[in-house]
Amino acid sequence: MKHFLKETDFTPPEVSEIFALARDLKSKRGRPECGRPLAQQTWAMIFSKSSTRTRVSFEVGIHELGGNPLFLNKNDIQLGRGESVEDTARVLSRFVHGLVVRTYEQAEVERLAAAGTIPVINALTDFLHPCQIYTDAFTMAERWAAPGGDLLASLKGRKIAFLGDTACNMANSWILGANLFGMKISLAGPAAFAPTAEFQSFLAAEGYAGRYEFTTDPYQAVKDADVVYTDVWVSMGKEEEKQERLAIMSPYGVTAELFAAAKPDAYFMHCLPAHPGEEVQQAVLDLPRSIIFDQAENRLHVQKAIMATLALPSRN
Ligand code: CP
Ligand code: NVA
Repeated sequence: MKHFLKETDFTPPEVSEIFALARDLKSKRGRPECGRPLAQQTWAMIFSKSSTRTRVSFEVGIHELGGNPLFLNKNDIQLGRGESVEDTARVLSRFVHGLVVRTYEQAEVERLAAAGTIPVINALTDFLHPCQIYTDAFTMAERWAAPGGDLLASLKGRKIAFLGDTACNMANSWILGANLFGMKISLAGPAAFAPTAEFQSFLAAEGYAGRYEFTTDPYQAVKDADVVYTDVWVSMGKEEEKQERLAIMSPYGVTAELFAAAKPDAYFMHCLPAHPGEEVQQAVLDLPRSIIFDQAENRLHVQKAIMATLALPSRN
């Protein structure tokens, strides 16, 4: 059973195919030749955290692929009252054809995948956000690849600079993704928020030990960068640390001056939601080279390609 729980669940040739399919689905959106690979299927979405982009893009995407999305707030199902993750996976596997899960612990998506008999997609955990990283990479490649050329190949050797909370799910996922895609990654943030020991062990187990640069100097990170990327400083679940985080991360906000220190043709990217005045200035979000809403839109196309790739033949 194939799942998408982390970036490396697909090999580079498979990523290349997913990107090509996403490009095709994007260009033909709404036309019958897109097909209905999820026809007669229901995909459940278990969310334990808030979401705008992920929830809407998956619900719309499942529908556009011919399937039925079933949104389940964790607190509305027995999982929220202590039914085991394993029994939840076994029961849902009898009803639905795929699971999209947003939760806290990476172990929870792994346990759902191990116990069930349907594909599971990680729609964000505290540790990783792989759907976002694939989408971001696709969004860059749309700009860098020759028309009709291989999207993944266009990422090779490019440099991404990630600023702010470099211990969060987005930073972890970008380190793993950059290595998978053949990109270079440099991260700048407070030393107290450097990539964690847990993440470093995970990265080593994935075969990419130490394959990133970490610095406390934001200007060093953005030097020669093709993309300047940031994320919120207070991730979901970290609200109690808000004041401490805003204070310690304040030197790492993306200002127009910092962005100008990257390559002249660099792009600004952010997974959103943004908190202007914290991790990024409004003026940077508004720049012509800010491609944040293309990123948001591409969640739909890339996740449709991922679901179409993972979907099992319909049983009913
Ligand atoms: N970027 C992202 O995952 O956004 P949501 O939290 O709105 O889904
Ligand atoms: N790091 C953020 C990403 C939101 C898409 C969070 O986990 O809240």
